Amino acid sequence: MLKKNEEYIVDVIDNGFQGEGISKIEGIPVFIAGGIKGEKIKIKIVKVLSSHAFGKITEIIEKSEHRKDEDCDTARRCGGCSLRHIDYDFTMEMKKSAVENTMKKALGRNVQVDEVIKMDEPFNYRNKLQYPVGVSEDGKVVMGVYAERSHRIIETRNCKIQDKLSQKIANTIYDFLLDNNIQVYNEKTLKGSIRHIIIRIGKKTNEVMVTLVTNSEIEKQKELIGLLTSKYPEIKTIAKNINSKNTNVILGDKTEIIYGNGYIYDYLGSKKFKISPLSFYQVNPIQTEKLYSKAVEYAELTGKETIFDLYCGIGTIGIFASDKVNKIYGIETIPEAIEDARENAKINQIENSEFFARRCRENLTRTN
Ligand SMILES: C[S@@+](CC[C@H](N)C(=O)[O-])C[C@H]1O[C@@H](n2cnc3c(N)ncnc32)[C@H](O)[C@@H]1O
Repeated sequence: MLKKNEEYIVDVIDNGFQGEGISKIEGIPVFIAGGIKGEKIKIKIVKVLSSHAFGKITEIIEKSEHRKDEDCDTARRCGGCSLRHIDYDFTMEMKKSAVENTMKKALGRNVQVDEVIKMDEPFNYRNKLQYPVGVSEDGKVVMGVYAERSHRIIETRNCKIQDKLSQKIANTIYDFLLDNNIQVYNEKTLKGSIRHIIIRIGKKTNEVMVTLVTNSEIEKQKELIGLLTSKYPEIKTIAKNINSKNTNVILGDKTEIIYGNGYIYDYLGSKKFKISPLSFYQVNPIQTEKLYSKAVEYAELTGKETIFDLYCGIGTIGIFASDKVNKIYGIETIPEAIEDARENAKINQIENSEFFARRCRENLTRTN
């Protein structure tokens, strides 16, 4: 029986879905953050549950050839990237085997998975920045990324995977909050205004949408809009989302457009998409194009098919494939996303699509 605080020397036999190292002690799986398959490490048991346990590395005895120095000052502290200590090529191997294992579990047989299609430059690719703003233990206003499984904000002014312009705009907002002594949301007292900064950028159009999630009115809102729009002509719209609930859910129910017309555009392949503050849009557009193109290629479409784009969001997959099929039906639960999907079809002059604001499971009938 494993016990908390006991120390062991273990071999890392695999990596899990989140990149965590996996070892076995007396047949019990132990998950170890930062462990890499093939390594021998000394660990301390930090938590024991009925079927598995968690360990913490105290010493690396035999280091993996794939271990590298982290290239980011907040790596390990922030809950963003979990594989920054592993060389990029090996993370592709890990992801490939994660897919193989998942498919094997789901289908009960081995599935051949091709090489993962990599990014050329796996940096600054995200088109959506989402930073909480809050008050630290010592009363300081902070903006950044939550530490893993916590609401402790790790200050982030230069995230390696965020778009550079989005990061710059977030820094400007943060400096404005500090310079103007604005009371940001405090999770303990439930007082203060701004809770989250969300910045989305159309990587192809360079159009930016800023959403400020706030508990109440934003102090000096006019000055903030003036500062942002004069400094960054790329900002096409600014939205204020009201969330006054004491909850982990980021966005509240009410969104007010406080500058511009409430949306930006971006392209995937040759298709143009309208993105609103609440609509889902894949966060890595470079890989999205590769993924959608591969899916279309593998589907070997002849032009006669009817495709169901289930959970379609703003209709990106169906619209991307629309030239190659006879008919697209898109289903999605958020009515605003369906409005965007219909408009996206119109913008791209697509006449073979229909979109429905419904829940998928309840609205699809099994025919066999
Ligand atoms: C991960 S997004 C994918 C969107 C789109 N397919 C894409 O790749 O850009 C999943 C979408 O499913 C929608 N959704 C969640 N549950 C649903 C349900 N039961 N029925 C229909 N849509 C649902 C969400 O609102 C969200 O837009």
